[in-house]
Amino acid sequence: MRSRALHVYTRISVSCALTLTLACSLGHATETALPRPTLDGSVSVEKAMATRTTARAYSTDPLTIADVGQLLWAGNGIIPTDAVSGATKRVIPSARKTYPIELYLVCGEGTAQHLAAGVYHYEPEHHALRKIADGDRRKPMSSACKGQSWIAKAPVSVIVGAVFTRAEATSGPERGINFGVMEAGNANQNILLQARALGLETNTVGGIRDEDLYKALQLPSEVRPIVLVTVGKKP
Ligand SMILES: Cc1cc2nc3c(=O)[nH]c(=O)nc-3n(C[C@H](O)[C@H](O)[C@H](O)COP(=O)(O)O)c2cc1C
Repeated sequence: MRSRALHVYTRISVSCALTLTLACSLGHATETALPRPTLDGSVSVEKAMATRTTARAYSTDPLTIADVGQLLWAGNGIIPTDAVSGATKRVIPSARKTYPIELYLVCGEGTAQHLAAGVYHYEPEHHALRKIADGDRRKPMSSACKGQSWIAKAPVSVIVGAVFTRAEATSGPERGINFGVMEAGNANQNILLQARALGLETNTVGGIRDEDLYKALQLPSEVRPIVLVTVGKKP
């Protein structure tokens, strides 16, 4: 079963890579492809749960691009289920398959291997990053988190956002918001556990002033930031 999933993933990844290359050749490529995620780590889910803890200090060591890709995939990635039909499913469950979750990566220059400093949208369909803002935004981001200055020192952060209107369209305003927030929780927890399995430290930050965060990161107005997850290595 596992080897079939890997085989399917390989076939789909090749087709995604071709799509990206095609986009490049057509001159409208703005995406950075991420390394193919592994579907088979060596740390048990029980060990990841038992060792997860909140960290508010990180070393200055950068994350690898493979780690960044793995974390984003864990939070909102896609799993190919059939190479012939191209069928896929998401890593996280979603009420009525409305998929309200959007992830954004925030990094400094060289804090995520060769990625330039900026804010990137994670594109699940291509397992790729699309830049939405230039420059190191970690300081203004930490100010938007009610001045929690340690956040600026985390090499990367992942914003877990929800587009409530997607869930509201099928579940109504009240349940739609509940489902959006709940699905953000699913994404958050997957990222925390995946980080532990990679030997990385994290913190979930909910102390956010939304308006300041929109300005700091140039997030699209339809995406409500629910939490951000800081990620780095032990100091
Ligand atoms: C929704 C949510 C919001 C949080 N917001 C913050 C925050 O703004 N700043 C912070 O330092 N920790 C934040 N935390 C982390 C909690 O303080 C932490 O999980 C708690 O103290 C328990 O410690 P542990 O995670 O090590 O078990 C948040 C956690 C959650 C789940």
